[in-house]
Amino acid sequence: MITGNYPNLRLRRSRKYDWSRRLVQENNLSSGDFILPIFLIDGKNTKQTIKTMPDVFRYTIDNLGIIIDKAIKSKIPMVALFPYTKKSSKNELGTEALNENNLVCRAIQYIKKKYKNEIGIMCDVALDPYTSHGHDGLVKYGYVLNDQTVEVLVNQSLLQAQMGCDVLAPSDMMDGRIGKIRKALDKEGHQMVQILSYAVKYSSSFYGPFRDAVGSKGLLKSDKKNYQMDFRNSNEALREVSLDIKEGADMVMVKPGMPYLDIIRIVKDNFKIPVLAYQVSGEYSLLNNAIKKGFINENSIVESLISFKRAGATAIVSYYADRINKLIK
Ligand code: PBG
Repeated sequence: MITGNYPNLRLRRSRKYDWSRRLVQENNLSSGDFILPIFLIDGKNTKQTIKTMPDVFRYTIDNLGIIIDKAIKSKIPMVALFPYTKKSSKNELGTEALNENNLVCRAIQYIKKKYKNEIGIMCDVALDPYTSHGHDGLVKYGYVLNDQTVEVLVNQSLLQAQMGCDVLAPSDMMDGRIGKIRKALDKEGHQMVQILSYAVKYSSSFYGPFRDAVGSKGLLKSDKKNYQMDFRNSNEALREVSLDIKEGADMVMVKPGMPYLDIIRIVKDNFKIPVLAYQVSGEYSLLNNAIKKGFINENSIVESLISFKRAGATAIVSYYADRINKLIK
């Protein structure tokens, strides 16, 4: 690997001028690399602040234009919808997930009607925004049931596909759900709906602000360790990905992002499939707070996002997506 020796070789030569640095640049960011998460809330004409996520908002459906216009103008390929479900609509079984008038369903229809296929829509498949216990599935004696949950997730997937969702993103970590969802989609004529599997989702402390944003924070009494992955493991990530690819995933996700760059890299090296990374809410809040306090400057955002690309990520889900063009400049 050694290609020369000092003083013949001076690596600083290529770093001397801006044009030269640009010439040898190995990785870059553009708005096309991003998925923008959007939080939804019931009501009218509201853009609501979220305490744990400064500069991120919950939008009522009639206000979605504000953020979607911006995303389309910035050439962001896709948005991801997450609902804040009011407490009175939540129950043990998360039945609101199957309500065709729920927030997500109405938002999909609104966006599709107004913007056609100008921007992709991705929806989480999981029950946690809808359950009174905050878990992603059905719970019995404190344990999240697998096969019974998958049945519900299949129906949630079909409903979202029927409403016009382009990319279904199961984030629940139940075994076997990708295969079951793919089969049901095909049977019902949704062959072109894509599946982005959160194949490698760790049980993580970095999801805190998100749970606040979707209103499940106070409800969740335990952790999600009996279904999400142990952060001590990496070989297991490859097993998860290989299963999901066999079951029909079009893309896979690694989540969280920055503490898991090694995982992005090994998945990318082992499978030739689009690997997406999720810069999750806790990562966002960490950066945001440190910048607000003046401990680090704003360039840290692009620096951390580039690390995903360097690790091999095809695209990044980030709460900075709507600001990315400004940040790159
Ligand atoms: C729930 C879900 C979570 C996130 C996306 N979908 C949280 C969780 O699993 O508890 C986290 C996103 C983030 O922290 O930004 N299925």
